[in-house]
Amino acid sequence: MIKRYIYGNPIPTNAVAATDIENGEGELQYFSEIEMGGKIILSYAMNDDDIVYGLGEANRGLNKRGGLYSSYCTDDPNQTEEKQSFYGAHNFLVISGMISVGVFIDCPGEVTFDIGYTSPNMLNIKPGTGDFVLYLIEGKSAYDVVRQFRAMIGRSYIAPRWAFGFQQSRWSYMDEDEIREVVRRHREKGIPLDAVYLDIDYMDGYKDFTVSDERFPDFPAFVQEMRSQGVRLVPIIDAGVKIEEGYDIYEEGRQHGLFCKRSDGSDFVAGVWPGKTHFPDFMNSNARAWFGSKYKVLIDAGIEGFWNDMNEPAMFYTEEGIEEAKQYIADFDFDCGDPGKYFELAGKLTHMSNRKKDYESFYHNMDGTVVCHDQVHNLYGAYMTRAAGEAFAQIVPDKRMLLFSRASYIGSHRYGGIWTGDNQSWWSHLLMNIKMMPSLNMCGYMYSGADLGGFGSNCTRDLLLRWLEFGIFTPLMRDHSAQGTRRQECYAFGETEDFKNIISVRYSLLPYLYSEYMKACLSGDMLFKPLEFEYPSDNFARTVEDQLLVGDSIMIAPVYEQNAVGRYVYLPEDMLYVVFRSSSLRRYQVMSRGLHFIPAAVNEVPMFIRKNKILPLCRTAQCTDQIDTSMFELIAFADSACEYRMYEDDGISYNFTSPENYVPFRIVENEGVLTADSSKKIVKLTLY
Ligand code: GLC
Repeated sequence: MIKRYIYGNPIPTNAVAATDIENGEGELQYFSEIEMGGKIILSYAMNDDDIVYGLGEANRGLNKRGGLYSSYCTDDPNQTEEKQSFYGAHNFLVISGMISVGVFIDCPGEVTFDIGYTSPNMLNIKPGTGDFVLYLIEGKSAYDVVRQFRAMIGRSYIAPRWAFGFQQSRWSYMDEDEIREVVRRHREKGIPLDAVYLDIDYMDGYKDFTVSDERFPDFPAFVQEMRSQGVRLVPIIDAGVKIEEGYDIYEEGRQHGLFCKRSDGSDFVAGVWPGKTHFPDFMNSNARAWFGSKYKVLIDAGIEGFWNDMNEPAMFYTEEGIEEAKQYIADFDFDCGDPGKYFELAGKLTHMSNRKKDYESFYHNMDGTVVCHDQVHNLYGAYMTRAAGEAFAQIVPDKRMLLFSRASYIGSHRYGGIWTGDNQSWWSHLLMNIKMMPSLNMCGYMYSGADLGGFGSNCTRDLLLRWLEFGIFTPLMRDHSAQGTRRQECYAFGETEDFKNIISVRYSLLPYLYSEYMKACLSGDMLFKPLEFEYPSDNFARTVEDQLLVGDSIMIAPVYEQNAVGRYVYLPEDMLYVVFRSSSLRRYQVMSRGLHFIPAAVNEVPMFIRKNKILPLCRTAQCTDQIDTSMFELIAFADSACEYRMYEDDGISYNFTSPENYVPFRIVENEGVLTADSSKKIVKLTLY
């Protein structure tokens, strides 16, 4: 059951899709409220063993207890342990204990969540304004609360099937030839590949919706050339529009008043990749329609997917910030003898980017209502995604496009996926990636993933292998790295056989992953689940943070530590341990409920099949177009009849409802003998 409580005069956010939510009457249940200077603090007294799930793209563990979090979309590639804000802002929590309660704070400005940070058993939520909507969800279990929440916020964006292939990216692919070489080397080594990303260097002077003539002399022909090799190109679109006389996007935006404004009515200016830019006012429906329509230029050239970036919005500097720093330096008293002042001096320069003060200094025209950016900060990237999503529905109404964004706010999950922004080639970020996936699913983000191998810093061979071994399960499976770091393509680490083998497992698993992803999207379920969600009465399973259920048939326990030759795994029931050396080379071991050490070498993918469940595998392929889905090997750990309903469609249209989209795989029992059966596919059974 969901109740809505409206505080003050909230700004509409488009987060909630349901229109039939009842307003709560009388006193708020579970939470106590304290009013302080027009703001409200909501408090909940946690029991010792309550788990607090949620917050989507956030720091720390699956259980958020003990931490302080601030929902304020932030461009910070240094995601160290103490950081409170990441790129997305997802204000949904689930308290799981004696009772299961969810809370969603629909507030597009800053909101802080003190989850036992100040006082171990107190959960305090502080919206930065007195104007917000609170949704309170009561459920039978944490899982039930999540499902109710997901139903309320509406169906998640659904990616095309090709976007489940392996994707290679790097900031610094300069021209056609460099991209041809990336594709050639994957194909030469037999490393499967479905997409290559075009980072900012494909553009002419970092100008959105342009392509450099010099580096891509015949762009549509190049897109086709890559397509004929089974590879899609995915260009980046940045939020900032370059200020340059004669550049059509700039001219149109200025003429029609579609950029964010300063208080004096002039267009707000910040420095990003192209130098001085204006920000489209995505809060304004005309600006959204206008910016969205521009994607057509690239779609007409054959492009089928985009990533929206720098949309917190990220600002390297503003003129106001520079002036302030200059003044500070000019006035600086070298003899002040105050160490605090020395640090302040350094901070003036290092904190030049993404200043709160700058976010407080520009305005949106929300279809007639002028709003300061700071109050709707978390909506900016979400509405950029919305602009693209709404435009695609017009431009290519029958075709699913790939779309994901860096900044996000719940609501944008209906228009696109997200990637988790700039991480680092650190083992701790691999673990963070593992723990974050279920939280993202809880908040509606189903098509998601991290930069595999890490964006910043220099990756190592073992880290990339281990990260890919987890990445084969994430819908977005993309190796992406920053300019200036060590090359991070699979072939950059010498011998490629291990990489090829690991990625080949992804392609064998792809029909299952796609099926589980689609079923979860269509029914408001999760792809990645914490163990508690399937084994609610197992007290030990509740505490496990580094093992996840992926869909209905499997549990994963990725290895995320350097030099590890395996790891400890808790099995909440008897399971079949399958170690993949490649898609076809496997070892099996039946394991009983309890704690085990499982061996998994650096070039092996560990996986567990649940009791009386079926994992369908197809033959691996070099790209998704080439996957043969007429034949399946069914791996099962079964002692009785069981069934797996595989969802399968054309992967590109919106025809989701046809009964033809379901393929039954059955294990049937005949006089004590189990055999596989499918009316639609050729099947072979591997039974334990
Ligand atoms: C941002 C993005 C990153 C991209 C870079 C250059 O840092 O997060 O993915 O490579 O900009 O465009």
